[in-house]
Amino acid sequence: MKVIAVNGSPRKSGNTAILLQSALKGAETKGAETELINLYELDFRGCYSCFACKRKGSLCNGICAIQDGLREVLEKIMNCDLLLLGSPIYFGNVTGEMRSFLERLIFPSLSYNTGDRSVFQGEIDSAFVYTMNVTQEQMKQMNYEAIFNQNQAMLELFHGQSEIFICNDTYQFKDYSMYDASKFDEVRKARVKAEQFPIDCQKAFDLGFRLAKT
Ligand SMILES: Cc1cc2nc3c(=O)[nH]c(=O)nc-3n(C[C@H](O)[C@H](O)[C@H](O)COP(=O)(O)O)c2cc1C
Repeated sequence: MKVIAVNGSPRKSGNTAILLQSALKGAETKGAETELINLYELDFRGCYSCFACKRKGSLCNGICAIQDGLREVLEKIMNCDLLLLGSPIYFGNVTGEMRSFLERLIFPSLSYNTGDRSVFQGEIDSAFVYTMNVTQEQMKQMNYEAIFNQNQAMLELFHGQSEIFICNDTYQFKDYSMYDASKFDEVRKARVKAEQFPIDCQKAFDLGFRLAKT
């Protein structure tokens, strides 16, 4: 059982990374082999629209043809059993790097032919971990869930089950007093970090444990 987690946050020790690491620990408890990939360490861009993956007789096999820093990662993902993606929300969406990564990951598996939506032959289960400043109520008002559902539908091209994991009201700075951020109540944020975030980490652990099949 191979599990790959992809961190779409520039922060290697931020909220997203911590939750992904918790999920990987859960999977490891089931004996899974795990790897965490930090997207911001890789040299890559989004889809070039070269259409090599859509050419008649293409030898791409559902893997993007571009030979750059993402190539090896995409090959590994195509051979894993469980894919965990994580991204902070930036302006109501995933980060730019995560979006570029998704273009390169998903487009080669998306069929332009009539019939089956996917050319992918295997089965990869997945989960997408989203972290954000806003509370659950604010998130609902702003309809972030439309983006989450859209990404879930994209990941379902890999024929596995795809879950959505949401962590609200994250602690953004090490020390709020050092920043111009008066709209955030530092005391309340600290309480959420102390009380809710450990619960979210446990839920992430449980997610990894549950999705890692033996
Ligand atoms: C450029 C930028 C844009 C952001 N936009 C949003 C946003 O639209 N909604 C939100 O809830 N949080 C937003 N945030 C906050 C992050 O999503 C939040 O702090 C997240 O948990 C950070 O994840 P990390 O600790 O893994 O880096 C933004 C943060 C940055 C730096």
